[in-house]
Amino acid sequence: MQHYIAYFSPAGTTRTVAERIYMTLQKHHLEAKLHDLTVHGSPLASFLQNLASPCVLWLGSPVYCDHALPPLMEQIAALPENLQGYSVPYVTWGGVCSGFALQEMGEALSQKCLPPLAAAKIVAEHSSTWDAPKPWEAGRPNPEDLILIDKLVQYVVQSVQGEASQPMDLRKLNYLSTAQQADAALKSLSKAKTAMGTPKADVARCIQCGDCVQACPTGAMSLQPWPAVAEELCIVCHQCVRNCPETAFPHNGALVAERIASMAAASDEDKVTALFY
Ligand SMILES: Cc1cc2nc3c(=O)[nH]c(=O)nc-3n(C[C@H](O)[C@H](O)[C@H](O)COP(=O)(O)O)c2cc1C
Repeated sequence: MQHYIAYFSPAGTTRTVAERIYMTLQKHHLEAKLHDLTVHGSPLASFLQNLASPCVLWLGSPVYCDHALPPLMEQIAALPENLQGYSVPYVTWGGVCSGFALQEMGEALSQKCLPPLAAAKIVAEHSSTWDAPKPWEAGRPNPEDLILIDKLVQYVVQSVQGEASQPMDLRKLNYLSTAQQADAALKSLSKAKTAMGTPKADVARCIQCGDCVQACPTGAMSLQPWPAVAEELCIVCHQCVRNCPETAFPHNGALVAERIASMAAASDEDKVTALFY
């Protein structure tokens, strides 16, 4: 069975996990195709155009505001209905709340005839805190997290080699407490974007090098002639801010880390990497 691994990874952690899956499949002597779903790659539908069926699609997203990334969900929605195979959705999350991300990916993939065999949520450094004195969940995923990913690959490989592979029970992805579900239901990327605003460059510092345009995973940034953000495309990943050599985008990492620490303290979800099957 052909394995396809696709990921949307603004800050690189979801890609690191994809590469680990790829390497572990190779150790099992299995071929896989690895694919970047940001604007620097091509959409999921093109990647899967000539797909060998049946297949296993490993699909990775970071958790943003308790959900899977909206551009990734749009790419799942654009898939044809007649695919044949299985999926393994996985998310990386910054130790605050993994929200509904796995559940919504699992349901959307099932609708495209790619029901999940298994799923995983992997704790990762919170990508909004890169410039804080101590980034939140720094060092994650750690070696123990990566060993769990190897276990997930082993489970999936054995499962598809078996007589009749069984999709997992999607209800297992409904793991949040009632209180945490109520909290997650109030959150969305568009609300967060309205509250925090999209990045604005200080033109007195900007040298129009275009690094922010290159770094943007959604194609939201352009030079006109100063950096300008297409609000509807921006996912506030702050890759433009992070990659600016002139620190032209104001950002207070310490303050962001404080806010994230209090959100993490308020969330009753166990801050662990977990596999579901
Ligand atoms: C705008 C934004 C929102 C985020 N929301 C959440 C969240 O709701 N819960 C959480 O635990 N982590 C959250 N994170 C952290 C990311 O899920 C985590 O750092 C992830 O590993 C990033 O993946 P990447 O490195 O592939 O971009 C958020 C990060 C950003 C930038």
